[in-house]
Amino acid sequence: MPQLPFSQACENNKGHILLQLQRLLAQREQVLEIGSGTGQHATWFAAHLPHLRWQPTDMQENLGVLRPRCNEYQGENLLPPLALDVRARPWPIPVLADTLFTANSLHIMPWGAVEELFAELAARAAPETLLVYGPFNYAGRYTSESNARFDQWLAEQSAHSAIRDFEQVDALARAAGFQLREDNAMPANNRLLVWGRD
Ligand SMILES: C[S@@+](CC[C@H](N)C(=O)[O-])C[C@H]1O[C@@H](n2cnc3c(N)ncnc32)[C@H](O)[C@@H]1O
Repeated sequence: MPQLPFSQACENNKGHILLQLQRLLAQREQVLEIGSGTGQHATWFAAHLPHLRWQPTDMQENLGVLRPRCNEYQGENLLPPLALDVRARPWPIPVLADTLFTANSLHIMPWGAVEELFAELAARAAPETLLVYGPFNYAGRYTSESNARFDQWLAEQSAHSAIRDFEQVDALARAAGFQLREDNAMPANNRLLVWGRD
């Protein structure tokens, strides 16, 4: 069997994120994931949170990476991956999820795409909960030397990629009607940010 697409970072962080999701998503039903990558998060979380229906998505050109692992999933609660570029509004997503989850995507996509993501949320009644995992800067500063090095590496990969300022993302979330509920410190200088709206 050919090896499935694999991310070591994803493998390292999925258990830590799951511990938080078990608490945060106990009363939730459906998650829309943005930028699902290899599908390691989608398949792991769907398997360990069987009360949820998990909708993985990614850009059309990444579906070839995402589908193989999702195709191997044994269970009914992982929906087939959908193509979604957050800039292509309105999003062609047929079902309304109560929760949006995204990991390590805001620092990859251009800032304009981050703005489009929140603009789309502002235009929709759902989701009510927004979970964003990844590195963030606070008050214009890196939270660690390793994040500073990572940001340098990102800049070398793409002029559009950069660790985002928490305050700027929070401002977009507030403009979309969300309030910050939690800012959880996670291993390897990452955060799990939780916004909600009533
Ligand atoms: C570093 S990977 C993270 C993948 C996975 N979430 C993880 O944590 O391993 C960044 C992901 O963001 C996706 N992405 C980048 N720009 C995007 C956009 N405009 N709309 C949707 N997804 C995007 C990429 O295709 C990629 O899957």
